[in-house]
Amino acid sequence: MPDLTTTYLGLPLKNPLVPSSTPLSHKLDAVLNLEDAGAAAIVMHSLFEEDVRNDEQMLERYLVHPEPSGEAAGHLPSSDDYRSKLDRYLEQIARLKARLSIPVVASLNGSSLDGWVTLGKEMQDAGADALELHAWYMPGDPEVSGAALEDRYIALLQGLKAVVSIPVSMKLSPFFSSLPHFVQRAEAAGAAGVSLFNRFFQPDIDLTSLTVVDRVQLSTSDDTLLTMRWIAILRGRSNLTLGATGGVHTADDALKMLLAGADVVHMASALLRRGPQALKDVLDGLSAWLAEHEYASVAQLRGAMSQRNLPDPSAFARAAYLDALDSFSAPPGVRY
Ligand SMILES: Cc1cc2nc3c(=O)[nH]c(=O)nc-3n(C[C@H](O)[C@H](O)[C@H](O)COP(=O)(O)O)c2cc1C
Repeated sequence: MPDLTTTYLGLPLKNPLVPSSTPLSHKLDAVLNLEDAGAAAIVMHSLFEEDVRNDEQMLERYLVHPEPSGEAAGHLPSSDDYRSKLDRYLEQIARLKARLSIPVVASLNGSSLDGWVTLGKEMQDAGADALELHAWYMPGDPEVSGAALEDRYIALLQGLKAVVSIPVSMKLSPFFSSLPHFVQRAEAAGAAGVSLFNRFFQPDIDLTSLTVVDRVQLSTSDDTLLTMRWIAILRGRSNLTLGATGGVHTADDALKMLLAGADVVHMASALLRRGPQALKDVLDGLSAWLAEHEYASVAQLRGAMSQRNLPDPSAFARAAYLDALDSFSAPPGVRY
């Protein structure tokens, strides 16, 4: 039986499969089922700073008008049973910690320094083993440079690291002009890991109603390629834990991420589509492949095909783009 153990943000894990942030962690039973299927840790759904602020504003309104009348009375909670999103999130951390034997990673989607620091500290105090920070501003202001945005992410990370002692990972978007440079800065600022990449749901236009609509789009295995390339480039250039998130549905997908250099492989869409069995299948497939190819451990495999370890490093660089363009030929039966 190959040794599947790995280290994630300094935490020892029994294997590299970690469900990433999804609504599944709202339900204790769903997370227990993932643990039974073999999950080595769990990243919780994100707590959004905006939601916490909205709750605070509602509570403030309620305190100013403690006895609403008429229609308003039906919309406001009673003072005794009011539990904010933050309360519920912290309770869920405590509940998961009490029932699971695997590490619990809380996830924070914040936008202000104050929000990150306060909420991150509360999550630590509730028992989280680590924090994953999802930093993302929609860069729509032409006056704000990419460098200024990156400075802001780093300042948020430093502010948080000043008050929490648990490891902190940053979940990044693929939209950095120089990802290795930013990752290097995050490491210097105290991050323990990076998770590549967050999946963004793009608004669509409904041509019937002429409205902008949001819909959840689950990934497919084709979505592994972007993450795999960047994991391969970063392996060996940083000591951070590299978490691969995006498109992992099969054991082959997970193996490729590990060969590229991932320390852990996250799964989300596959779990939402197929349930915990998807994780079990990947885990079984991973063990079987390692045994069949005579690898004694995941550690032996990790990064074997990172950019640094390839005889031709250009395979993950610009040359690959040119080769891909050259190799394109018309599909059968199509004439241009
Ligand atoms: C329905 C849904 C909800 C998600 N919620 C969060 C979230 O709250 N916070 C977060 O950082 N990522 C969230 N994600 C992103 C996933 O954690 C994951 O990074 C992304 O979906 C890519 O992995 P996948 O290809 O395995 O789905 C969500 C994804 C889905 C599909």
